[in-house]
Amino acid sequence: MIGVLASGNGSNLQALIDGGLPIAAVASNRKDAYALLRAREAGIPTATFSLSCHASREERDLVLATWLEEHEVELVVLAGFMQVLTPAFLDRFPGRIVNVHPSLLPSFPGMHAIEDAVAAGVEATGVTVHLVDEGIDTGPVLKQETVRIEPRETLEARIHAVEHRLLPEVVRELCLARS
Ligand code: GRF
Repeated sequence: MIGVLASGNGSNLQALIDGGLPIAAVASNRKDAYALLRAREAGIPTATFSLSCHASREERDLVLATWLEEHEVELVVLAGFMQVLTPAFLDRFPGRIVNVHPSLLPSFPGMHAIEDAVAAGVEATGVTVHLVDEGIDTGPVLKQETVRIEPRETLEARIHAVEHRLLPEVVRELCLARS
């Protein structure tokens, strides 16, 4: 079963739901994340684990990992989860945490990948699905696809469209490999 972590809109979560993937639980660090509403609409259990409710990041991560395990989660998908996870969490799902990022990593890691690519004047950027390690957008790449910068006005929409196809594809492959 899959657990999804999301901080915001949750359009990638929606793509996983629409793809019929076996999602057991959805968690967020923000109680107002639209992703939580999408999950509830789909009848998926949700919870919020905000840093402000815990003594430390490690403690929050331990509680979050335990909640996911209680929901029989084996594979964790970060779908727009905007916080770095500590080893307290990573060690509970070794090699079983996947992230989607809107650039061709290792180029343009971090929070502003699309703007950074435009500012750098490159001709193309893209989407990466990768395994998560302790760094920021640094784990082994599983799949990438290039997206041209121009036409600039539609760049974000084109990147998201690729994310919504690539992420469910990789997650499905990982689920099959585990079954
Ligand atoms: C996506 O662009 C994803 O690549 C990045 O955060 C964004 C999340 O969008 N990590 P959404 O919440 O899935 O709509």
